[in-house]
Amino acid sequence: MRVDPAARIDGHIGVPGDKSISHRAALIGALSDGETRITRFGRSADTESTLAAVRALGAGVDELDVDTVVVEGVGVRGFRDAAVDCGNAGTLARLLTGILAYQDGRFELSGDDSLSRRPMRRVTEPLEQMGAHVDATDGHLPLVVEGAELEGIEYELPVASAQVKSAVLFAGLGARSSTTVVEPTPTRDHTELMLQAAGAHVTRRPGSVTVQPAERLHLPEVVVPGDISSAAPFLVAATLVPGSTLTVHDIGLNPRRTGILDVLERMGARVGVLNKHRVAGELIGDVEVSAQPLVATRIEAAEVPRLVDELPLVALLGAFARGTTEVTGAEELRAKESDRIETVTAAMRAIGVRITARPDGFAVRGTPARPRGGTIDAAGDHRIAMLGAVAGVVSREGVRIEGAESVAISFPGFFDLLDSIRQ
Ligand code: S3P
Repeated sequence: MRVDPAARIDGHIGVPGDKSISHRAALIGALSDGETRITRFGRSADTESTLAAVRALGAGVDELDVDTVVVEGVGVRGFRDAAVDCGNAGTLARLLTGILAYQDGRFELSGDDSLSRRPMRRVTEPLEQMGAHVDATDGHLPLVVEGAELEGIEYELPVASAQVKSAVLFAGLGARSSTTVVEPTPTRDHTELMLQAAGAHVTRRPGSVTVQPAERLHLPEVVVPGDISSAAPFLVAATLVPGSTLTVHDIGLNPRRTGILDVLERMGARVGVLNKHRVAGELIGDVEVSAQPLVATRIEAAEVPRLVDELPLVALLGAFARGTTEVTGAEELRAKESDRIETVTAAMRAIGVRITARPDGFAVRGTPARPRGGTIDAAGDHRIAMLGAVAGVVSREGVRIEGAESVAISFPGFFDLLDSIRQ
């Protein structure tokens, strides 16, 4: 796939439903009694894996139209023996391991090569402390879960990970006593919000969340906000191409996800948030950005979870900003769909950007001139493919992306949408 430079980015767009929330809606719907109607379900390879998983586990899934899905739940303890292929979806693998830990049955989880390299010990350790029987392959997929009686725990997260927090909270639904997760750095809270909406007893304090065992859940409807992580590549393109203005409508503005907007503003972009409203606990609104000259910024550990999936794009923003942009405290990037410190650094170098990899992040030297362009290897990672596409739009000579099809992991219509806003 070749992406040519654009003279300008212009328009009003929407993006598919949030991937994190779509996974959770399908899983919590499957654990509920009765039907859960999910509107604006974020269709992608990853969320297809989740629909296939809940089907295999015994829930009903009725796909009414492209983005309306009705899940017929089996109840909190209703899953039956199954082998589940999680594909590329880390969120599915981690959250489901927590849910299966207390189900009455034997479950096999597998995934693709990338997912099979990603760490699972971070979830199996706390679950085993609760009494779970999980047999993983040297801390990785494939793994086997044999349902067990669980005790609640108080667990302090050693890594700032919403996936780990969620796995423990889900296991807590089926434990004999209450479960508390302490998180020194706040991570996305979609699980807590949706479990509350489904009637679970969830108590939130600064720095921790407690869930009580649940007999039944009931979640009639979920309206999924647009995915800010899917909007981000377009927002960044519009920030970088002079003369551009872009509005992305109805995107999720949960404050634990909006780090990229804060970073854009800090770097000097003009960012407007309009029509803010709340739907079932989640904040939604329209975001308008226009291109401005940028200055460098620094991102530290406390901010990382608020834009963890957008950090590859920060490297490109840094390439245009006056000064050196630094990302620190982001060693988690090495445990994503690719080692994103290495793949981002390689991608930026390939188009002529001056970037240095560090153990926990990277540093980028900015210049106001467009980078030359070149060939970027997506390394099978959807976020790197999208970074390559934005790099093509803002480059002098365009970018060839190897493995561009990986965008379908989170956003199958990505390239068509990009075509629709370029001048
Ligand atoms: C996710 C949490 C993040 C994020 C991932 C989705 C989630 O991972 O990178 O894309 O839905 O909970 P970690 O919580 O492991 O950092």
